[in-house]
This record gives sequence, C-alpha cells and structure tokens, in this order.
Amino acid sequence: MKLIFLGPPGAGKGTIATRLAEDEGIPHISTGDIFRENIRNETELGKKVKAILDSGDLVPDELTVELVKDRVSQPDAAAGFVLDGFPRTVPQADALAEFAPVDKVLNFVLDEDEIIRRLSGRRVHKPSGRTYHVLFSPPNEEGKDDVTGEELIIRDDDKPEAIKNRLAVYEKQTAPLIEYYRSRGLLVDIDSAPKPEEVYASVRKELGLA
Ligand code: AP5
Repeated sequence: MKLIFLGPPGAGKGTIATRLAEDEGIPHISTGDIFRENIRNETELGKKVKAILDSGDLVPDELTVELVKDRVSQPDAAAGFVLDGFPRTVPQADALAEFAPVDKVLNFVLDEDEIIRRLSGRRVHKPSGRTYHVLFSPPNEEGKDDVTGEELIIRDDDKPEAIKNRLAVYEKQTAPLIEYYRSRGLLVDIDSAPKPEEVYASVRKELGLA
C-alpha cells in the first residue's frame, strides 16, 4: 500500500497518517517531520532549511526529492508507506513517479476558516512530535505533554503571518497536484471536517480496510 496524503496545511494529514501507519505497520514519511528533526538536531540540513520552514516557504525540490528517494529505498518501506507532505510541487510528483509510483492519493479537503482554527490551536511536544489541539484534542494538563509532562510549544510556522504564507504557497504550488493525480485516476477526496475518528474511518473504507 503506497499512499500519498495530499491537502492544505492543517487538514489533519499528520493525525490520520500517524494512526494508519501504526495500524498497518508501514512507515509514515512526513517531510515536514524530517526537516523539523534535522532543525532540532542542528544538522547541516537543519541549518539550511530552518528559515524556510519558519516562513512557510518550500524547501528546494532537489533537496526534498533526494531525501524522499533515500527514505523510500529503506527496507521498512518495501511493502508500503504513507507519504505525508510530499510531493508538494509538480517536479516532485514527476520525480516520485520515476522512483516510487504510488497506488492511491488521498486528498484531504477542508475549508480555510477551519484550517486556521486548527493551526492556531495546535500545540506540539517538540522532542516526540506529539500533536494536540487546545480545543479539539487537549492534553490532560494544559500546556503539558501527556507522556512526559514536558512543555508544549507552538510551531514557528503556526504563527499568523506564516499560516497566511503557507496557505498561499499551497494554492500556488501544491493545489495543481489535485488535477495532476485526478487525471491519472489515482485521486480520492476525503472530507476532513468531521472528528478524527470519523475521518479515519472513511480513509480505511476508501482503502478497502474497513
Ligand atoms: P508539514 O509539516 O508537511 O506541514 P503542513 O503540510 O503545513 O501540514 P501540517 O503538519 O501543518 O498539517 P496536517 O495536515 O498534518 O495537520 P495535523 O494532523 O497536524 O510541512 C512544514 C514545512 O516543511 C513546509 O511549510 C515546508 O517549508 C517544508 N516542507 C515539507 N514538505 C515539503 C516538500 N515536499 N517540499 C518542500 N518543502 C516541504 O492537524 C492540525 C491540527 O488540527 C492539530 O492540532 C490536530 O490536533 C487538529 N486536528 C486534526 N484533525 C482534526 C479533526 N478531524 N478535527 C479537529 N481537529 C483536528
């Protein structure tokens, strides 16, 4: 099962991908998570991409494609994977079709007001990447990670200016992929507005796993 999760920032791709990957025993490959981990560990790649992520712009295609090409060639991805946040441009999609063609593309659909609500309420436990929402999935204790009790933070790109830019970048560079994959017969729309359990159930149904 080789899948792409497509959709605007904050549509819930990461929330559903984490769960599906765990239940199906396949890797969840999030380019955003990989970049953030490199930033956290202050690697060369992390230093190169930090300002780009903070502003909400896209990391250059060559860099991103090489990273994903390497990741999907690892043995744990041989039977399948969920790509979350990749591809984000037509050149990335063309490259992926060469090195790892996918079976299906799930397009998470959500309106802009709800996107902004979700992103502005998101809280993250930086070391683990665990994600909460102040209203929709709050931690047991306000501002604290459920597992470690450590502080939760707001992602730098979840601040209002960066959110605006990410939405504009999505419309311009990533939304054309909807037609790209629809015309190839690979795309399925997923209504991302209901609660996470309901969205997850429709994803499983679309994948024939229900
Ligand atoms: P990335 O990390 O991929 O960010 P994104 O696409 O903007 O996606 P998000 O993580 O913001 O949202 P999501 O859809 O996963 O939502 P989530 O499940 O967290 O990329 C970050 C940056 O990295 C990019 O801006 C770029 O700079 C760079 N980058 C990454 N990939 C790249 C590429 N291919 N090329 C170039 N650059 C790249 O949910 C959001 C919130 O809503 C959470 O608080 C959650 O709890 C809540 N929530 C989720 N589902 C529901 C629900 N059903 N109901 C209520 N609340 C919900």
